[in-house]
Amino acid sequence: MGIIFDETNKVFLLNTKNTTYGIAVTDGMYLNHLYYGKKLEDTNIRYLLRENEPPFIPSVNQREKNSFLDMAPMEYPETGMGDYRESAFCVRSEGGHRASELSYQSYQIIAGKPELEGLPATWGGEEDCTTLELFCRDETLGMEVQLLYTVFEEEDAITRSVIVKNAGNSNIYLEKVLSTCLDMDDRNFEVIGLFGSWGRERHIQRMPVGYGRQNIASFKGESGHQEHPFMALVTPETNQDIGEVYAMNFVYSGNFIAQVEKNQFDSVRMLMGIHPEGFTWKLEPGEVFTAPEVVMIYSDEGLGKMTRSFHDLYRNHLIRSSYLHKKRPILINNWEGTYFKFNERKLLDIAQEASKLGIEMLVMDDGWFGHRENDDSSLGDWFVNEEKLKGGLNKLVEDVKKTGMSFGIWVEPEMISPDSELYKKHPDWALQIPGREITQSRAQYVLDLSRDEVVDAVYEMIANVLRSADIQYVKWDMNRQLTTMGSFQWPADRQGELYHRYVLGVYKMQERLTKDFPYILLENCSSGGARFDPGMLFYSPQIWCSDDTDAIERLAIQEGTALIYPVSTMGAHVSVCPNHAVGRVTPFETRGNVALLGTFGYELDITKLTEEEKEKVKVQVQNYHKYNDLIREGDYYRLASYAENGCYDSWMIVDKNKKRALVFYVQVLARANAKSKYMRLKGLDPNQSYQIDGNHYLGSTLMNAGISVSAEIGDFRSKLLDLSTNKGEFSPHH
Ligand code: GLA
Repeated sequence: MGIIFDETNKVFLLNTKNTTYGIAVTDGMYLNHLYYGKKLEDTNIRYLLRENEPPFIPSVNQREKNSFLDMAPMEYPETGMGDYRESAFCVRSEGGHRASELSYQSYQIIAGKPELEGLPATWGGEEDCTTLELFCRDETLGMEVQLLYTVFEEEDAITRSVIVKNAGNSNIYLEKVLSTCLDMDDRNFEVIGLFGSWGRERHIQRMPVGYGRQNIASFKGESGHQEHPFMALVTPETNQDIGEVYAMNFVYSGNFIAQVEKNQFDSVRMLMGIHPEGFTWKLEPGEVFTAPEVVMIYSDEGLGKMTRSFHDLYRNHLIRSSYLHKKRPILINNWEGTYFKFNERKLLDIAQEASKLGIEMLVMDDGWFGHRENDDSSLGDWFVNEEKLKGGLNKLVEDVKKTGMSFGIWVEPEMISPDSELYKKHPDWALQIPGREITQSRAQYVLDLSRDEVVDAVYEMIANVLRSADIQYVKWDMNRQLTTMGSFQWPADRQGELYHRYVLGVYKMQERLTKDFPYILLENCSSGGARFDPGMLFYSPQIWCSDDTDAIERLAIQEGTALIYPVSTMGAHVSVCPNHAVGRVTPFETRGNVALLGTFGYELDITKLTEEEKEKVKVQVQNYHKYNDLIREGDYYRLASYAENGCYDSWMIVDKNKKRALVFYVQVLARANAKSKYMRLKGLDPNQSYQIDGNHYLGSTLMNAGISVSAEIGDFRSKLLDLSTNKGEFSPHH
């Protein structure tokens, strides 16, 4: 049983295979945090609360109640009563006062996991997970708060979210509803986050936790290129294989905050949820607000174990697409190949050539609609530009299919160009503040997706396109971040709900799309990888990782992304050199090997490749077919990080039964007079013999001593090592 309530001690224990999370009810009302870490066999852990130390619980020492509130580890800390650390929850009453004091009422333990209405979330059946609901109440406001915890035992994960109900008689205003809080004693923690920019998404950064508050946050209306809804606290010795890790990842695609605070008593508070900046939610009597969920993973075997728990959880209990466990079609996207300069003949030429080399799908990117010849116009005009695509979309798709390829299309449904038919008709559909100029970004405005009529109308336009031809894939892009948050739909005291309502609108559209077109492979994208988050993965099994397709730049991007997300979700393509983002020239093989750790595809004008390059495409296509099942479904191990060592990068994938593995190695810059390197492998069966290039090695030898990788002449050289167990006897002579 994943969740136990010890009635005598008033202690809840949430157990996964390897971890325990403990909560206590104190003084008949407070929910205090007891423990999170390696699995405990004992329920007698109430002593961890330090109730017998000053300042004592309020019923013992009422005159120092605020000292108790400011010191005790809290499950869901509130504003206004004496906890001066950052709160997770702040509510304003009709009278304008900001305070609440939740009192624990009752609990319920249920098999499985209830859905979070309108929100993406992990899911699981009665066999997979157990949920604890803690019911609390603030008497003064007549407000009910439900704290939800779901335990996924196999994946060592706990998810948390919060439901607030106004059960009183007057309006209340939620000013902050974070989704999770974790209070614990500091252990010299360091904090790990993912940071970046356009073309440089999700680079790993690690720094010490000092006194005060450190946070990672987005106010961009989406998770963003720059910061990422992920935070991990790690003990100082932590690396891939050892050390304790407390990780949080937000299943949400809008504004967020992740924060760690170290206080006067050397305890730390880790928080995550919707960013309170720009957020107020009015709850009228009877209304309910649901906060999106946070996934928490604890590992005492370093970052590698954390990564594999996330990968398993997301593959088993987040992504819903029927494509998840399937080899995705190898696609060729025309964006870097043609940009806006294409017509139906050009696309057909690409399709014909690509098909000969084993590529399976043509994706027509931006520029096929309205009068869009560059990025200045036509977003919102979702009808085919028949001057560009003579004969229309259906004809083009049917012609592409004759080459043996299927067809995919690019859309950017959330946007509206000032230069569009749609804007002429509905200028009020753009997010805007009356009297202010709307900030342009890439010459476009953002649609007010807080309005159902806008969601419905735009969805219908897109759905019409998808119904008009045999379209098997959609790339859903979002190329600017949100500003001038104003809506004509909502009264003044609800304008603060817009950021969140916008995200709910996006979710509504994607939910409809995936229900109405279940056969379509959906790939999310946002100016590259600005909305690569678990929220979007609920709808699409893959997300475009970055507009930077350079094989070397991609090492850090894919390392940071794969720290959390299954490699099967990372959109990765082979493109031409000199690379369009950085001008670097890398070997064609290396570009293919790097893109293998992802969805794999091409993004170039294949008609311009040399014969030699075309032969290489064929080899890459073969590699994809040979390795994709393993890469998509296997366990991922990081062996070396170019971002850390400045020299080389290496990862490996081991299949779940440890019979096959694939090692990737890239030597970034060549060095004079260099020896070969011993790469110590991971995750193998120590007692199995593995065959590599016809030689046999024992798993334990490969893991303890390593396999030698020779130094090469030439920069950016890479290798794949294919390991399989051989049926015969292990022979030490090779
Ligand atoms: C974004 C995407 C690109 C491409 C362009 C089209 O930048 O990330 O892959 O689709 O938009 O405008």
